[in-house]
Amino acid sequence: MNNPNPVKIVETVLRDGHQSICATRMRTSDMLPVLEQLDDCGFYALEAWGGATFDSCLRYLNEDPWERLRTIRKHVKKTKLQMLLRGQNILGYNHYADDVVTEFVKRSVANGIDIIRIFDAFNDTRNLETAMKATKAAGAEAQGTLVYTISPYHKDSDYLRLAHELEDMGADSICIKDMSGLLAPYAAYNLVDTLKKEIKVPINVHSHCTSGMGAMTILKSVEAGADIVDTALSPFAESTSHMCTESLVYTLKGQPRDTGIDGSKLTPIADHFKAVRADLEKTFSLDTKMMVNPQVLSFQIPGGMLSNMRKQLSGMGVTDPAKYEAVLKEMPKVRADLGYPPLVTPSSQIVGTMATMNVLFGRYKMIPKEVKNIVLGRYGKTPGPISEELKKLVITPKNQPITYRPADDIPPQMEKMRSELAAKGYPNASVEDVLSYALFPEVALPFFQKNR
Ligand code: CO
Repeated sequence: MNNPNPVKIVETVLRDGHQSICATRMRTSDMLPVLEQLDDCGFYALEAWGGATFDSCLRYLNEDPWERLRTIRKHVKKTKLQMLLRGQNILGYNHYADDVVTEFVKRSVANGIDIIRIFDAFNDTRNLETAMKATKAAGAEAQGTLVYTISPYHKDSDYLRLAHELEDMGADSICIKDMSGLLAPYAAYNLVDTLKKEIKVPINVHSHCTSGMGAMTILKSVEAGADIVDTALSPFAESTSHMCTESLVYTLKGQPRDTGIDGSKLTPIADHFKAVRADLEKTFSLDTKMMVNPQVLSFQIPGGMLSNMRKQLSGMGVTDPAKYEAVLKEMPKVRADLGYPPLVTPSSQIVGTMATMNVLFGRYKMIPKEVKNIVLGRYGKTPGPISEELKKLVITPKNQPITYRPADDIPPQMEKMRSELAAKGYPNASVEDVLSYALFPEVALPFFQKNR
C-alpha cells in the first residue's frame, strides 16, 4: 500500500555528513562504488555538492569539483542531486557580482544539480535574490533557507514572515537550517507547526546532533508535519553531523509517515562508508571522535567553533584557560552588539575574532575591517540593531552605513576573471574553470598548473 504522506529524506553522506565528521575529505573514488545503490534507495535527494566540498576538492584532494559533480550525475540517474549555496557569497567568503552568481548557478544546473539550497548568514533575503532567480531560470528547484538561531529577533513570527518573503520570491521549498544543533525538539515542533499553517511549499528540516538533540528534533519536526528531513547514513551520522538515516527509517516503519525506504538496502551502503570513514581518518590524520557538546546550547556557538577558538588562541600564544573562558563569555556580547547575527560562516569567524580581540586588547580597542563592514551594512541587514557604542566607534562622515543590497556596489566580474586567467596562461579556460578561479584563485591556480 502506498503511503500518501511519507517523510522524504535528503541523504547527506556525500556532502554535510563528511563535511561534519571528516573535515570534507571524502574523495570521489570513495563515493563511486555505491552511487548506483544510493540512487536505488528512494531518497528524495542526495546532497552531494556545494558547502565546503568545492574548496576542499581543489585545496586538499587535487580534484576538479565540476568533474566530481558530472561523475556523480552519470551514476545517479533517478534521484535528485542537491547542493548548498551561500547566496551572494556563492561558496566563498565575500560577496560576488551578480554575473558570477548567475553563471555559477547556471553551470551547476547544467552539470547536474536539481535542487539548490540558498542561504544568507543574516537571513537578508536581498542576498538570495540573484541566486534564486538564476536557479528558477535554469529550471532547477530553488530552496529558500531560514538560518536558525536563538535571539530576541528570531521568534517563530520572525521566521514565518521570512518564509512568506521567500515563498513570494519563488522558493519551491523552505529549509530550516540549524547548523549548530540549537533547535530543541519542542521548539522545532512549534516552528514547523507555525510554518505549516501558512506556508504552502514543502518544509525541510536540517539539524545537527552537536548538542545531542538532533534525532529528537527531527522526530518532533516530522510529528509537526515537516515534509522533508536531512539525515546521514550511520557511519557519517550523529555527533556534529545529522540524525542517522537508518534510525529514522526504522522509527517510522509502519507508522503514518513511513518513509517507504527499505532499511535492508541501506546496510551494505553503510558498510561501505564505515570503511571509508576509517580510511579517511587514517589518511588525513583526523580526530573524528567528537563528544556530544551541550555547551553549544549555553554559549550558542557552533560546535566546530569551540575547538577552532581554542586552537586560534593557543596559536596567538594564549594558553590561559581563564582567557578561553573569557572569550566564550564575550562572544554572546559581541553578537548582541552586532545585531544578533546567526553564527554561521562568515559571521561566526567575525564574531569569534572580535571577542578574542576584546579579551586580549580591551573592548573594541581594535576593530577588524569585517566587523566595521557589518556595522556599515556591507554584509546586509542585521537581524537586530547594532549597539550605539559600536556605531559611534565605526561610523564617521566618510564611513556611512549603506541601506541598499551590498552586491549593488559590485560591477560585473566574469570578463575580468576570464582575462586575468588568460594572462596567467589559460586563454581557453572553460566557464567552469573561470568560476573556480573567481571563487578560490589561490587554490584554483595551483590546481590548474598541476592538471591542465
Ligand atoms: Co549542516
